[in-house]
Amino acid sequence: MKKIEELQSYLKEKNFSQLFLLVDSNTSQHCMPILLEKIDEITDRQATLLEIPADEGHKTLKTAEDIINSLMESKADRNSCLISLGGGMIMDLGGFVASIYKRGIQNINVPTTLLSMVDAAIGGKTAVNHSDIKNIIGTFNFQSEVFVDTEFLNTLTNEQIKDGVAEMLKTFLVADENLCETLLSTPISKETLSTLITPCAEIKERIVSQDPYDSGIRKKLNFGHTLGHAVEVFYNLSHGHSVAIGMYYALGKSVQYCNFPIEKAEKIKQFILANYEIPPYEKDMPQLVSLMRQDKKNEQGKISFILLEDIGQSCLCSIDGDLI
Ligand code: GLY
Repeated sequence: MKKIEELQSYLKEKNFSQLFLLVDSNTSQHCMPILLEKIDEITDRQATLLEIPADEGHKTLKTAEDIINSLMESKADRNSCLISLGGGMIMDLGGFVASIYKRGIQNINVPTTLLSMVDAAIGGKTAVNHSDIKNIIGTFNFQSEVFVDTEFLNTLTNEQIKDGVAEMLKTFLVADENLCETLLSTPISKETLSTLITPCAEIKERIVSQDPYDSGIRKKLNFGHTLGHAVEVFYNLSHGHSVAIGMYYALGKSVQYCNFPIEKAEKIKQFILANYEIPPYEKDMPQLVSLMRQDKKNEQGKISFILLEDIGQSCLCSIDGDLI
């Protein structure tokens, strides 16, 4: 992860044959002016703008195909670079297209949400949704550089900040008790949280460097995501909000199955309840279980959850019955 100030010299040095700037209708309005103001290299090289609608419903193969058609129309060659400016959806989609167009072109992630700064922009996972299943089609794309600018946080709503807080909480819960304590006692504001971005991103980078293809310890970064992905689709909630609900549930299961200390679980659950609305998901469990059966972590038909024995100590558990 580099600072945005380094992007200008990076682009000069790489001398890409063409630059493409992928944005959604929100980031085009609120974030692109900030980027263009700072990085003359993009303006001077007249990057081709690729704009898509700003909603998760467009994170599809069809949108990926539209972007590929635009790259072809502009005769993008293999030395072209796609700059993805946006939140998790743009990171996932841009990284996906960049990894398959001509078998891979360079991709630069400029995350504009707190969530994408600490999670989606890092680690090379790319994806589109398909048939109501989140991120079911995707690649690992390690041809990405990440450039972060906390000025983009000023463009976010409080709800979007809380989305990022959920992924930060997840990372600290699986990796670092002190940082977890700090986050739980930090008032949620752009100023206070920006100091936690670098430590959070560094934890993720460290985990990814040990297990880039998600076959071992990287799976712990999916804490809260098994139910989280299901409620995201079912209730049409934001990703961070959904992960918060998934963590609330997984903390209960961690106490039940892994002896996670109950007082710590209660404290974290109180934090989640204070910041995120929890729908009455118990009554919708039959439909949520059908969605969870599609989760990528599952093996041999059993639904897998990342659970915690303590903060920083996770395990992968298959739970067959007793899912409420
Ligand atoms: N968001 C989880 C991961 O990148 O592995």
